Amino acid sequence: MANVAIIGAQWGDEGKGKVVDWLASRADIVVRFQGGHNAGHTLVVGNQTYKLSLLPSGLVRGKLGIIGNGVVIDPEALLTEMARLTAQGLTITPETLRIAENAPLILPLHGALDRAREVARGENKIGTTGRGIGPAYEDKVARRAIRVCDLAEPDTLSAKLDELLLHHNTLLRGLGAAPFEKAVLLDRLLELAPLLLPFAEPVWELLDEARRAGKRILFEGAQAVMLDVDHGTYPFVTSSNTVAATAASGSGVGPGVVGTVLGIAKAYTTRVGSGPFPTELFDDTGRLLGERGHEFGTVTGRPRRCGWFDAAMVRQAVKVGGIQGLALTKLDVLDGLPELKVCTGYRIGGVEVRHLPAAQGAQASAEPIYESMHGWKDSTRGARSYAALPAQAIKYVRRIEELVECPVTLLSTSPERDDTILMKDPFEG
Ligand code: GDP
Ligand code: IMO
Ligand code: MG
Repeated sequence: MANVAIIGAQWGDEGKGKVVDWLASRADIVVRFQGGHNAGHTLVVGNQTYKLSLLPSGLVRGKLGIIGNGVVIDPEALLTEMARLTAQGLTITPETLRIAENAPLILPLHGALDRAREVARGENKIGTTGRGIGPAYEDKVARRAIRVCDLAEPDTLSAKLDELLLHHNTLLRGLGAAPFEKAVLLDRLLELAPLLLPFAEPVWELLDEARRAGKRILFEGAQAVMLDVDHGTYPFVTSSNTVAATAASGSGVGPGVVGTVLGIAKAYTTRVGSGPFPTELFDDTGRLLGERGHEFGTVTGRPRRCGWFDAAMVRQAVKVGGIQGLALTKLDVLDGLPELKVCTGYRIGGVEVRHLPAAQGAQASAEPIYESMHGWKDSTRGARSYAALPAQAIKYVRRIEELVECPVTLLSTSPERDDTILMKDPFEG
């Protein structure tokens, strides 16, 4: 068995899309297993830039893409993305894309509730993408979600909409937002049904056949461990489990099928939205990282908060996420900085701790304990071999390995697909 799961090891936007695209050349199938169109994965191939939110990044390599049951699907967003990428030259048909029939749908009322709640939270807002992700997962767990397969049963759809609207319109009115009309939603879903149903199937069966035929499966995570609903900086998290274990439940395979877990981390740290960020920089270095790294959210365009590499946090992500190898991206963004800092632990209320505790107040007050390193003068940008890296950059990578207690097995030195250095092939276990 030689499958691989890719997950984010920080707060998202680590470059998962680039790494998935690169590794997809060695895979047969790429599966998304959680999240929704809150994800934004940017792939640069020659002079083409692809931005994917719901579609598995392997489609760019012409690999079979699967959207698993753990994903929440906004049908309008999916169709828009399919049209956009088809216009860019990709082939997206029921032969190249399969969707789990038991995946829950995001409807317009979910986005409306997400946004109305953020307004109501005021200063305490989570800073969600406003795309209805949280409310859609809530409906799934509350057993009232409309799922892809319901599109084939108009009576089921109608009855489920009654239950959904009873719940959502009550909430929306309470928050001062406009309620939704059943007829409008039902008509639109019935229009969407023939567009989506040809892609739908029990993907667990397809994956089981693929597994038995010895096909290589690449599981593509969205978001990251520190945004995980259990293990992240709760409540400033997304509404799904982002750890590698979810690859199994979110696609319908056993845990043994998931294979090697590759975590992706930037050589520094970024975060979009609210919540604790111990190594955040508010100075010129923070601004420099943001400018050089083009740190603007792919989905919302918001500037990303930037800071030093937090090894204590990534070490925690390695442990709870089951990460066996780390891909370090954006090393080039640090080129030329005279001094680099790496966080090795925190001071909370005068006490030194190795990891972020779960309590919100303690997380907010965590002060980073830093170790300083010299930077490097020469460029790493575009390097394609370990030997081409400045000695001090290699030292930085080696120190990170030690601190996060996990080998760095892949390096990325620019947005371009092939500016990648592989030290150990995750498909080889
Ligand atoms: P994802 O959500 O984890 O897939 O990451 P995003 O695509 O949202 O954000 C990562 C951004 O960094 C994208 O714009 C990538 O093109 C870019 N990127 C990826 N790897 C590198 C790298 O090694 N160096 C630089 N400079 N940019 C990179
Ligand atoms: P990728 O896959 C970075 C953040 C939002 C917000 C929080 C909750 O591109 O790495 P949500 O809309 O999910 O309820 O928002 O999670 N967030 C992301 N941040 N990258 C992402 O995805 C994210 N998806 C959600 O900014 O703070
Ligand atoms: Mg992203």
